[in-house]
Amino acid sequence: CGIIGYIGKKSTKDILLDSLELLEYRGYDSAGIALFPDGANEPVVNKVAGRVSRLREVCAGLTDEACAGIGHTRWATHGGVSDENAHPHQNGRVTLVHNGIIENYKELVKEYDLKDKLISETDTEVAAAVLNQLYDGDPEKALRELISLLKGTFAFAVIFADQPGKIYAVRNVSPIVVAMTEHGAMLASDVAALGVHAKEYAFLPEYQVACLSSKGIVVHDEKKHEIPLQLMTIDWDTSRGGKGGYAFYMEKEIHEQPDAIKDTVAPHIVDGKTSFEAEGIPNSFFRENQNIVVIACGTAMHAGLIGQQLFHTLANIHTDVAVASEFTYTNPVIKPGTLVIAVSQSGETVDTIEAIKYAKKKGAKVLSIVNVKGSTISDISDYCIYTHAGPEIAVASTKAYTSQLTVFYLLAIHAARLNGLVSEEESSKFLNELQRVPEVIGQILEKKEFVKKMTSKFLLSENAFMIGRGLDYSLLLEGSLKLKEISYVHSEAYASGELKHGTIALITDGIPVVALVTQSALASKEYSNIREVQSRGASMILITRESLYKDMNIPEDDTFILPEMDDMFMPFPAAVVMQLIAYYTSYTKGFDVDKPRNLAKVVTVE
Ligand code: G6P
Repeated sequence: CGIIGYIGKKSTKDILLDSLELLEYRGYDSAGIALFPDGANEPVVNKVAGRVSRLREVCAGLTDEACAGIGHTRWATHGGVSDENAHPHQNGRVTLVHNGIIENYKELVKEYDLKDKLISETDTEVAAAVLNQLYDGDPEKALRELISLLKGTFAFAVIFADQPGKIYAVRNVSPIVVAMTEHGAMLASDVAALGVHAKEYAFLPEYQVACLSSKGIVVHDEKKHEIPLQLMTIDWDTSRGGKGGYAFYMEKEIHEQPDAIKDTVAPHIVDGKTSFEAEGIPNSFFRENQNIVVIACGTAMHAGLIGQQLFHTLANIHTDVAVASEFTYTNPVIKPGTLVIAVSQSGETVDTIEAIKYAKKKGAKVLSIVNVKGSTISDISDYCIYTHAGPEIAVASTKAYTSQLTVFYLLAIHAARLNGLVSEEESSKFLNELQRVPEVIGQILEKKEFVKKMTSKFLLSENAFMIGRGLDYSLLLEGSLKLKEISYVHSEAYASGELKHGTIALITDGIPVVALVTQSALASKEYSNIREVQSRGASMILITRESLYKDMNIPEDDTFILPEMDDMFMPFPAAVVMQLIAYYTSYTKGFDVDKPRNLAKVVTVE
């Protein structure tokens, strides 16, 4: 979910609506704003199930002079998608928006006798009702009492009906940033929403109360002492630059991969050698840490699976990959010398944030790979390597994923070189091949119409399978996720050798099976696995390279030939083909490719 708040000289309504549009990647099933003009008795709330564009229509006639306002875009957790469940929620003198989950909301309903006083099914409205009961004219006191009662995670922006011209905020885990702009004070769930308005921002520290007014932003600690804001500069472009003539952001972002990879590699090759000095990571760090745990979610976790094989193959470092939401509950072994690598496009995924906190408590050093500058994960990690993919708007991650892969390639060869496992010459050959990736991706993009034709196999099918071995299997886990999330084809990626241990029961006549065959040493085994599914009626799509194609016995029309690269680098071109397959399947089916149903780009709840 996304939060925005504004008080200042510009049109509050316009700023809230524009910022909510920028925040839609955090959820887009409902949206709402509360406007509180000076002199009014209470804020006026407008909220709707649906996108911000719908809210904009509903709000068309509203005036908003000298006005404080808060807004929210929702990704439903407690309570379905409806007008009532959308934020802001109002109870008595309290109007608020909330990110996070209040785990003890049922207990609070009983304790504060709220059963018949609630309109929605949300945990948020319970917080509003409790706050209203606690409120005796002192907003800070009431907010502190409220948060002492809550279990879970939260970020609140609150307007009190008898406090015109003021917006209060408080948070735990879920982030809130505040910024003074030239025209007024703003708060938001993340920097992206500050858009073009602010040059500097500050994280609101957990459990401290911020008050925004036309005079500025004041943050108080428990003893009501003012705490200075730790200002950080926004030195990157938070605007989106539009779709650049492409039908969807996803297509544009697929095409931006050559630049994203180039920009991610460039700062890390100094005098022909890998370097992470700019991030302050000492070389000794890569010698001391002799086992790695990658924690991440979704696509970022899939990047970690490729990273795992690179660390094994190149650097002989034992590497585990953990789904962040499970990590904390599986008693992970963290010993001296364990390095945790957290991977996140947004830097705001709560599951990953919680896993990092847990790892740090257990004594691990945390190195993060993050795309969004100044995000929570970069802030709480010991070291952070930024990917330079630029803003990624489409929910389905593409350029962030291949940029994360790029960092893993750099890290693995760096560790291998520093530990004497590869010679300087081998390392520089490796880097040359890595620098060839952008050009190779360009060659794939030139053949995108062919991929579009191949996707016809998925258009009528409800199910698909993908098979591969080694790096191909790890890559297909991501390819399969892409297809599922945006085209709603149920797809399973399987290690080719594992299929016969059960799942082959599901291969029936005409079911599409994608075989990815890029690893020379595994091609002959893959050949047998393809025959196994073919003989059970599978309709094959083969993605391979020229040197391996001749033995595969699949018609040319069903085959995409990848440009030749060293085996280890084949995940890059293969990733792009898989992205295009998912994109064109979704596009041809007429779906909103950038905003698939039920998903959010940034998931801020556990
Ligand atoms: C969400 C997105 C996924 C993403 C995952 C992790 O589920 O829909 O595309 O991979 O979060 O996000 P992160 O920002 O931590 O990489």
